[in-house]
Amino acid sequence: MVENVILDKISKCVNSIRKRTSFVPDVALILGSGLGDYASNIKIECEIPYSEIEGMPTSTVQGHDGRFIFGTVGDTKVVCMKGRVHFYEGYSISDVVMPTRIMAKLGAKILFLTNAAGGVNYNFKAGDLMLITDHISCFAPNPLIGPNIDEFGVRFPDMSHVYDVHLQDILRKVAVENKIPLKEGVYCQLTGPSYETPAEIRMLRTLGTDSVGMSTVVEAIAANHMGMKICGVSCICNLAAGMNAQPLSHKEVQEAADMAAPRFTKLVTEFLKAIDKEGLTCKSI
Ligand code: HPA
Repeated sequence: MVENVILDKISKCVNSIRKRTSFVPDVALILGSGLGDYASNIKIECEIPYSEIEGMPTSTVQGHDGRFIFGTVGDTKVVCMKGRVHFYEGYSISDVVMPTRIMAKLGAKILFLTNAAGGVNYNFKAGDLMLITDHISCFAPNPLIGPNIDEFGVRFPDMSHVYDVHLQDILRKVAVENKIPLKEGVYCQLTGPSYETPAEIRMLRTLGTDSVGMSTVVEAIAANHMGMKICGVSCICNLAAGMNAQPLSHKEVQEAADMAAPRFTKLVTEFLKAIDKEGLTCKSI
């Protein structure tokens, strides 16, 4: 059965990781393109390249360094996915969410998702950080399609509060305390890899989208299915298509992510420290 193939693959990866480390993370952290340098803020206990994990999908995009990093930020135990795989690379959607499911199986109860995104909201500018309050899935297949994996969650999961309200409050508080401007809004995932057309961006804005990208939603769906608490931040790297004169480029996206990196680093670090103080990791979930 299909569910066993997926489950078997995940179990194999978890076993392969468990041969290398017994580390049990509280928080799983997924770093978006250009935000990978955050890993240097982790007190590393163990690093495992995806290529050394049997059955693990590895990223094909240049500059996407693929590895799990296990370690601590303050007293919070994290597993960080440095480099994620994207649907546009040609992987099946179940492979795209496999690392998220692996991190949940390793013990992570909270998922912190980050991404590089285009700003759709006219109040945004390149370099802004946006707390994700909700999402829209647009044309990316649902990762839960296929026989339900009952061990992970129910067939028809509720999606009313994908982004945990308490974690959102903590992030807002941390942003204020550290004087980091934080926008808020709805993130929409399309498949990519082409950027959107101006007409598509107008459509997305009409639908209630504030930022747009090529990741995150499918991982949030898989994590929500497994009962993880989710928090997400977009780094607005450009104004979306049609919103200014220049064409979009991957280089521009990376440069804007670099510009936002110090604020982003501070926000994530203080958030991770705060959730430990709040006693929110593992214990209370
Ligand atoms: N569109 C989609 N994905 C993106 C963008 C964008 O404008 N910027 C960064 N990732």
